[in-house]
Amino acid sequence: MTQDELAKVPLECDDRLPGRKQMRDDVIAGLRRSQKMIPAKYLYDEQGSILFDQICDLEEYYPTLTEMGILRDNIDEIKDIVGPNCLLIEYGSGSGDKTRILLEHLITPAGYVPIEISKEALLASAKRLTAAYPHVCVLPVCADFMQPIKIPTSIKAAGQRLIFFPGSTIGNMAPEESTAFLMRCATVCGPGGGMLIGVDLKKDTAKLEAAYDDTEGVSAAFAMNVLDRFNRELDANFDSSKFCYHSVYNHEDGRIEMGIKSLADQVVGFGNSEIAFAQDEVMFTEFSHKFSLGQWQEKANRAGFDIVHVWTDPRQLFSVQYMTVQS
Ligand code: TRP
Repeated sequence: MTQDELAKVPLECDDRLPGRKQMRDDVIAGLRRSQKMIPAKYLYDEQGSILFDQICDLEEYYPTLTEMGILRDNIDEIKDIVGPNCLLIEYGSGSGDKTRILLEHLITPAGYVPIEISKEALLASAKRLTAAYPHVCVLPVCADFMQPIKIPTSIKAAGQRLIFFPGSTIGNMAPEESTAFLMRCATVCGPGGGMLIGVDLKKDTAKLEAAYDDTEGVSAAFAMNVLDRFNRELDANFDSSKFCYHSVYNHEDGRIEMGIKSLADQVVGFGNSEIAFAQDEVMFTEFSHKFSLGQWQEKANRAGFDIVHVWTDPRQLFSVQYMTVQS
């Protein structure tokens, strides 16, 4: 692909994307809560996206490899169920590696709309996919997928809309939030549309905890990267040697809780504001809810979807589900 051709990949950039001021307001509001919390989307800057891709390559982080295996093993069935001419929309497309499996097999897709908050990751993957699948019209949108998004139309006449939402990112939302999100997806898909979604399943605690706290320390580096980002972009002065990564499975809520723990009583500056941390206090960065198949079905139905097919791996670690909008 030539530079000229690369430059032709059209990019829609949502101007409501959080700027520095918004990020500062969000982060400070989260850190002033009695239970400190950082919005997870801020973990995915350029460096964060690179580290997250490294997590996905780890043996211990079973979701990625297992989901890719499920997609590959069942792609013939998936392509037949989805049918021809779909407009493929992906929320949080990241590197786009899973999408390749779909783009290689789907029958004459009308277009591919990757939606991703990290502009660098989005453009790099849109360019790679355009080069690899020149027959597919790639329409990247740089946006926060938790906000309503205008879906660009493909020049090719599209059949149904198919939302691809892999990686069990749905598990990172609070329960009410994920139901509301699915309801919005049903509206975006419209009648006849569907969703192909990765849903991580409940399992042995040790396996779950290893996936979110690997021995190489990549998960820790990924979470801790947000402190460097805040120092750089929000004029904060976190001393990362006084914090450590924290992750545990909360049985009651069925979720892995990830965060950053303060190793001392300390005060951190954010420009002209200050935030106090007590020793052992944790600021959460992300939760990752795990579902039983029954729990998931109930949620999907409540949000307006019928589950058409569920694929899992032989060990039932992860599931990929095809759901259509209830008529
Ligand atoms: N969406 C990922 C998940 O819930 C996020 C994630 C994986 C993550 N590993 C992490 C977040 C480590 C923070 C730290 O599986």
